[in-house]
Amino acid sequence: MAVGERDKISGQMTTGHEWNGIKELNTPVPRPVYFFLITMGGFAILWTVLMPSWPGINGYFRGLLGADQQAAVIQSVEAAQLERASWTSRIDSEDFAAIQADEELMTIVRQTGAALFGDNCAGCHGARAQGGPGFPNLAAAPIMWGDDPEIVAETIRVGINATSAETRFAQMLAFGRDQMLERADIDAVVAYVETLSKPDLVATTDPAVLARGAELFATNCAGCHGENAQGMTDTGAPNLTDGYWTYGGDHASIRHSVYNGRTGTMPSWEGRLSPTEIKLLTLYVLDLRAAQQ
Ligand code: HEC
Ligand code: HEC
Repeated sequence: MAVGERDKISGQMTTGHEWNGIKELNTPVPRPVYFFLITMGGFAILWTVLMPSWPGINGYFRGLLGADQQAAVIQSVEAAQLERASWTSRIDSEDFAAIQADEELMTIVRQTGAALFGDNCAGCHGARAQGGPGFPNLAAAPIMWGDDPEIVAETIRVGINATSAETRFAQMLAFGRDQMLERADIDAVVAYVETLSKPDLVATTDPAVLARGAELFATNCAGCHGENAQGMTDTGAPNLTDGYWTYGGDHASIRHSVYNGRTGTMPSWEGRLSPTEIKLLTLYVLDLRAAQQ
């Protein structure tokens, strides 16, 4: 075997091998690489000894330090459940007025309620319960079914025009489509209803039409919407004087409501939400309303 010689160009030793005049430089692996490999290898061995590592038949090697992240997770989940159980049991057992008076519980209601509302209700009622076309504003509009907490909780539980056997039922009749009123009478009652929330329109509307509209309202509408059109919680018919509209307060929308009727569907939540969650949402919605007032 030929002995290595110094390469004239690079100044490095060759290995001494030669193939048709081509020689190979002797370039050993640099020391830092050995250092790196040895430290990392050492660390790896040390770590498998200290920490849970090798699988066995009936378990695994648990490591000399006894570290167990699963136990840590279980412990923190248990702690959270314990805390949750303590406030959910208070929400379950205390009555609405007591919870509303308790700032600490109401802070939980606001946080948990916002998440529950976002997941289940915001799709229809809007992120801040402000409503949208076809869906009532729950935060500010006068309530249709009553704002007693027990009533609101019941509305959420059974729904409106929903599939639950106990559902609330509310229907705006189709006075035009079902030929209960003549076209001219529909125009008159719509004109009258429009002036209830926009008094400025009285000056520009034919007094005879308004008088006819008022008369028609008393005979056809007051039974559900109330004598003064301010809504009736017994029928779930909304207030028509307040400027809040589920379906729109312009002439065309009101006319559409009166001509074709309206039957909004609020799902029933019993079975999908727990009684505690329904109670939380009731408190949350009423709290939003209180904040708007
Ligand atoms: C699929 C759409 C939809 C979803 C989802 C929905 N609602 Fe409703 N909700 C409605 C409609 C529509 C009405 C009005 C029905 C009517 O006008 O007859 C209503 C009415 C209500 C009312 C009665 C308001 C009043 O004036 O008396 C309450 C309270 C209510 N919703 C709360 C909730 C809560 C809380 C949730 C979430 C758990 C929710 N809703 C989810 C559509 C929805
Ligand atoms: C059988 C009871 C009943 C009668 C009678 C009735 N309404 Fe209604 N009306 C309702 C209910 C319930 C609603 C809410 C429907 C919904 O939200 O789905 C409603 C909704 C409306 C709306 C839509 C309100 C909004 O917020 O967009 C208008 C407008 C209206 N009614 C006008 C009238 C007029 C005018 C008459 C008489 C010609 C009349 N209603 C007769 C029950 C009735």
